[in-house]
Amino acid sequence: MIEIKDLKKSYLINGNKTEALKGINLKIEKGQVFGIIGKSGAGKSTLLRCLNLLETPDEGEIIVEGRDITKFNKRELREYRKNVSMIFQHFNLLSNSNVYKNVAFPLEIAGHKRDYIDKRVRELLKIVGIEDKEKEYPSNLSGGQKQRVAIARALANNPKILLCDEATSALDPLTTKQILDLLLELNKTLGLTIVLITHEMDVVDRICSNVAVMEKGEIVEEGIKDEVFKSPKSKTLRQFLQSQKGEVIYLDFKERAI
Ligand SMILES: Nc1ncnc2c1ncn2[C@@H]1O[C@H](COP(=O)(O)OP(=O)(O)OP(=O)(O)O)[C@@H](O)[C@H]1O
Ligand SMILES: [Mg+2]
Repeated sequence: MIEIKDLKKSYLINGNKTEALKGINLKIEKGQVFGIIGKSGAGKSTLLRCLNLLETPDEGEIIVEGRDITKFNKRELREYRKNVSMIFQHFNLLSNSNVYKNVAFPLEIAGHKRDYIDKRVRELLKIVGIEDKEKEYPSNLSGGQKQRVAIARALANNPKILLCDEATSALDPLTTKQILDLLLELNKTLGLTIVLITHEMDVVDRICSNVAVMEKGEIVEEGIKDEVFKSPKSKTLRQFLQSQKGEVIYLDFKERAI
């Protein structure tokens, strides 16, 4: 279980302070597919990056299985990060390495022996459905195939938590559906907890059990997805749900300028 308590993070650029997270409180249970939605700049990526401490929070606690990860020393953090993987919108693959090497990379870093790595890479490629692509380079793969490589790489060291930052935003609708089906299958078969951020409502609708809505560094509503979607309270969620139905949304001037 992940419990986020009063998490704050600001950035200072040219003397201007941006409060990206203004005191976030959130509980994510083991095995959930937890969606975080919000407009651009709401603080979604900052929040996600705090969960693996790619971003260091200014204040607050992140309790994972009873321990505050913000207090971890280097060794503890290294251990913790084996349990938390991340996938991205633009895949972040090693372009000069083939599929096999991309997936083998985290296993090599973890110090595994050649035989184990070989067995594990083939197993992972099978799980994500690209066992015939091991010799290909990323540039020869479709977006969906690239994301499958990234997922295989993310799963290499048996993480318990998978963080997804707009993981399907660069994919067409059919490929998006296939990748989401794969993520849901991994959630079910491996018991993987998935935290995903997106501005695509269909993504949340398809796979999330729970959802939180962010506005300007704050969580404005959260809960079981079906319940939250049935009676949306925040302006952001109402607008997102309208746009999902194809309704035209008129933003006021201030919002358009953001
Ligand atoms: N490294 C950084 N340096 C300075 N400011 C940052 C940095 N990262 C984020 N911010 C600022 O923090 C706020 C939240 O950004 P964040 O990237 O978390 O939003 P987001 O919800 O992920 O947006 P998007 O949907 O566009 O990805 C924004 O105002 C952004 O400009
Ligand atoms: Mg982002």
